[in-house]
Amino acid sequence: MDAKAAAAELERLAVLLAAADLAYHTADAPELTDAEYDALKRRNLAIEARFPDLRRPEGPGGKVGAAPADGFGKVRHAVRMLSLGNAFNATDVAEFDARIRRYLDLSDGALLAYTAEPKIDGLSLSLRYEGGALIRAATRGNGEVGEDVTANARTIDDIPERLDGAPDTLEVRGEVYMSHADFAALNDRQAEAGAKTFANPRNAAAGSLRQLDSAITAARPLRFFAYAWGEVSEPLADTQSGALDRLAALGFVTSPETRRCEGPGDLLRRYAEIAAARAELGYDIDGVVYKVDDLSYQARLGFRSTTPRWAIAHKFPAETAWTRLEGIDIQVGRTGALSPVARLRPVTVGGVVVSNATLHNEDYIAGTDAGGEAIRVGDLRIGDRVEIYRAGDVIPKVRDVDLSARPPDAVPYIFRTDCPVCGSPALREPGESVRRCTGGLICAAQRVARLKHLVSRAALDIDGLGDREVERFHELGWVRAPADIFTLRSLHGDGPDALAQLDGWGETSAGNLFAAIEAARTRTLARVLFGLGIRHLGEVAGRDLARHFETWDAFAVTVDAATPAAHAHRWAEEAAMAERARAKRTGERAALARVRQAAWADVSPEARAAWDDLTGIDGVGATLTLAICDALSAPQERAAIDALLGELDPAPPEAAADAGPVAGKTVVFTGTLERMTRAEAKARAEALGAKVSGSVSGKTDILVAGPGAGSKAVKARELGVETMDEDAWLSLIGDA
Ligand code: IVH
Repeated sequence: MDAKAAAAELERLAVLLAAADLAYHTADAPELTDAEYDALKRRNLAIEARFPDLRRPEGPGGKVGAAPADGFGKVRHAVRMLSLGNAFNATDVAEFDARIRRYLDLSDGALLAYTAEPKIDGLSLSLRYEGGALIRAATRGNGEVGEDVTANARTIDDIPERLDGAPDTLEVRGEVYMSHADFAALNDRQAEAGAKTFANPRNAAAGSLRQLDSAITAARPLRFFAYAWGEVSEPLADTQSGALDRLAALGFVTSPETRRCEGPGDLLRRYAEIAAARAELGYDIDGVVYKVDDLSYQARLGFRSTTPRWAIAHKFPAETAWTRLEGIDIQVGRTGALSPVARLRPVTVGGVVVSNATLHNEDYIAGTDAGGEAIRVGDLRIGDRVEIYRAGDVIPKVRDVDLSARPPDAVPYIFRTDCPVCGSPALREPGESVRRCTGGLICAAQRVARLKHLVSRAALDIDGLGDREVERFHELGWVRAPADIFTLRSLHGDGPDALAQLDGWGETSAGNLFAAIEAARTRTLARVLFGLGIRHLGEVAGRDLARHFETWDAFAVTVDAATPAAHAHRWAEEAAMAERARAKRTGERAALARVRQAAWADVSPEARAAWDDLTGIDGVGATLTLAICDALSAPQERAAIDALLGELDPAPPEAAADAGPVAGKTVVFTGTLERMTRAEAKARAEALGAKVSGSVSGKTDILVAGPGAGSKAVKARELGVETMDEDAWLSLIGDA
């Protein structure tokens, strides 16, 4: 490519990227997938790297934040809006039923009753009625905070303005969707008017509901099925099916396909019936939702972090399509993982054009790792004919390869052993399928991915600082390390902020971002821990660690103290592996205890205690503790983390959980529980902010002892730990 061709190509890319930005920010129908967008941007960067003179000041991606569709007020849901776990086959459904029966400790005799409802493929909406009048409609958003779309919801015929005989406070939840016929007619009208058409009914419904001008929504034929509720001042019924009947009596449309089923066999029969009727329904459904019918069981079962234990979505098998594998790109993620991405000849799968698919890792390409779910046999080569499906209807994956259609000149794919971004060696640890860039913070790809993770919703949740903004600030050199986010404002002295001068930004948007950044300084410790992006440290572990340590300093002191033990642990495991191999070779007995002991010999009691403290936290364990110790003991990483913490003032663990009588207490259950199962007792105690431990120690606050309690009760007595029976426990937590 000569300079002239490069300039023309950069111009072409600039136009494409600007159009994509606009579609991304102002429309609900992004024109490019993220991967396609990234590919264009990488091409742009590559050309700019070869022809630095042609580099435009604003860099690739241009026009950040073009008029974000930010015109809706925010609504905090009184009761969180959750998503559902998935089942894909009869085994998953049987396990769902078995899990619930175990949790509720039901005898094997009677079948458990469920409802089976179609899973409507639209977007969920929460309608709040007070005194029978509709006062607010909100989208799901992140489950906790959604968008206020009241004016738009009022234009939907299926949504009543007033209810007769409803509870004083009633939040009705359900799905907004568009029928096939209305979708086709809308797209015809849009095409005639030269306006954009929608890829599928769900996008059309979303785009129509999220209109700032409710006159436009009014002209779009949206519908609504009610299937759930949030806050209610009095119960709707005793059962899920009864509650649906009640909602129908109040004037809501409920699905006529819903049935009450007894046991998993019945559920699967209903699933098959709904699947057979799918094409005739006239609107999109993507599965069948099963819910425990008895609402008192639902209440006992409660929730995991984002999904109810009492419901599951049994998804229809994904649609598939065959196309050609044209190339393989390697992307570098937050933890340095090299992720191969298939570049495909574009093909329509389930109504969406797909041109990229994940290829997991090098073993998956080689055909030696199933990648969790694929059924493919044989390796993948560039040029192969491959079958694509959309897993969970979102991320495209390769399901199969047609070896008979393999081009004769196709060669085995050789996975690179260096990082495509920073050039550092990319290594595979023994037993791992993932190859990782060893560049750490010197690798721009890892740096940027970590920054994106840190500011994401579940972490510091900085509004207005999305992926594209992070990339742009990084390219400009404004934000390189996490702490830079918090000094962004002072970066350019007292004069007019450089940010406000930036293309696509102004005084208001810059001011909003700085305010959002300030607000992020006091995010909870749990969010900060999660935001660090340490391997294996997910949201749940973040909360567990925050609950245990309460402050960053307490956490960091323990991690530092535990680090020598972490080294010993790793060394011990490696030595044990070598010893096992030696024993196998020589036919002798492996002296595992001896080699482990040797590895731990020089570890101080303090280090052991700190290691035990961390690994003893329910849900933490050795793997995570190792990863944490590694992250905090690498000097460069530690400096970046300390600098970040210097800018933060993390809030103590979530206030809600602090309120109750057992919040912060360490509880041990022992003996037989008669009113609930162990799992249920543990989950409920944790939901109230207690820590549940398996053994009694000086740190134990309460021992709940059922019949048959043995040594733990004795130990508790010795240590003077408060001991109570199950009934006393239930009355303590207000649940007698
Ligand atoms: S119940 C706490 N029932 O599926 C459970 N959800 O994948 C709340 N959906 O966010 C959901 N049809 O938008 C429920 N009959 C149905 C549904 C349904 C569609 C959607 C809903 C939810 C998503 C979860």
